[in-house]
Amino acid sequence: MEYHIKTIGMLTSGGDAPGMNAAVRAVTRAAISNGIRVKAIYRGYKGLIDGEVKEFTSQDVSGIIQRGGTIIKSARCEEFLTPEGRKRAHETLKREKIDALIVIGGDGTFTGGRLFAQEYNVPVIGIPGTIDNDLWGTDATIGYDTSLNTITDCIDKLRDTATSHERVFLVEVMGRDAGFLTLNAAIAGGCEAAIIPERATVKEQIEDAIGNGRRKSKNSSIVLVQEHAVEGGAGKVAEMIQKVHPEYSTRVTVLGHLQRGGSPSAYDRILASRMGVAAIQALIDGQRNVMVGLQKDEIVLVPLNKAIHQKKDIEEDKWQTMLTLSI
Ligand code: F6P
Repeated sequence: MEYHIKTIGMLTSGGDAPGMNAAVRAVTRAAISNGIRVKAIYRGYKGLIDGEVKEFTSQDVSGIIQRGGTIIKSARCEEFLTPEGRKRAHETLKREKIDALIVIGGDGTFTGGRLFAQEYNVPVIGIPGTIDNDLWGTDATIGYDTSLNTITDCIDKLRDTATSHERVFLVEVMGRDAGFLTLNAAIAGGCEAAIIPERATVKEQIEDAIGNGRRKSKNSSIVLVQEHAVEGGAGKVAEMIQKVHPEYSTRVTVLGHLQRGGSPSAYDRILASRMGVAAIQALIDGQRNVMVGLQKDEIVLVPLNKAIHQKKDIEEDKWQTMLTLSI
């Protein structure tokens, strides 16, 4: 069934991710090319509630494909989780004559979008934008590749000083509940160990981490610690190692929000561009409440419900690769 969509609303929500601007540009230009008006909603769902809306032309998205962050801002909005908040958001949609919403973000963004779609019968299309890469139904999320490259670059730099001073570095990596960034950065950075929530017990992982680096001729090591794998993060792991091996010189580096910044990689720009175009096509085809995903380099549509509720696991072969190469 085809719906006649005249005007769409577009927002970015949750943690920003490099490539969100490329997605904003793609959504805007694909919509305009198809005769659909685009209204940018600032500050995610907060802006939807407060009516912070501006119509976008093609020029409004000029020169942004290479910029990190999101020009339409982002926010985490508790109020949208309340029926009253969503009621106010719906009033904005009616006032602005917005027929459908494109929401760019992660799990929380889609959860809010799905609730809103159910309550008010508004077509919602999700575009996965998060450095965490933790959404089921898509091999990649916008921002993940750039973030992974940033983390790898930081590890390379830390390696220089770790080797010079013969130290053990505990490096804390983001990812919310998922270890994709940590595991892949550990492989790319040639790390001695990675502590992630999805595998083994933390105790075993810490023992491996201690053993691996100092085994054989290695006098320094870099161990990645996913931010929520251990309560207390990399600092806590350093303490635990220090107790067993007081002779080691340990240092802790928390990469923090550096991991979310910077110009998006070519991969993320292309992914965002493809997903933005596909999101508009999905609306034109009458799709609703789906996420645009990427599977085996093909664009697919996945029910929002599944993207939110199914758990994406890390690839076992990557875990084994990291273990094999970190001896
Ligand atoms: O979801 C993206 C992310 O960067 C997570 O990796 C991290 O746990 C969280 O956001 C940090 O959120 P905030 O910017 O609100 O501190």
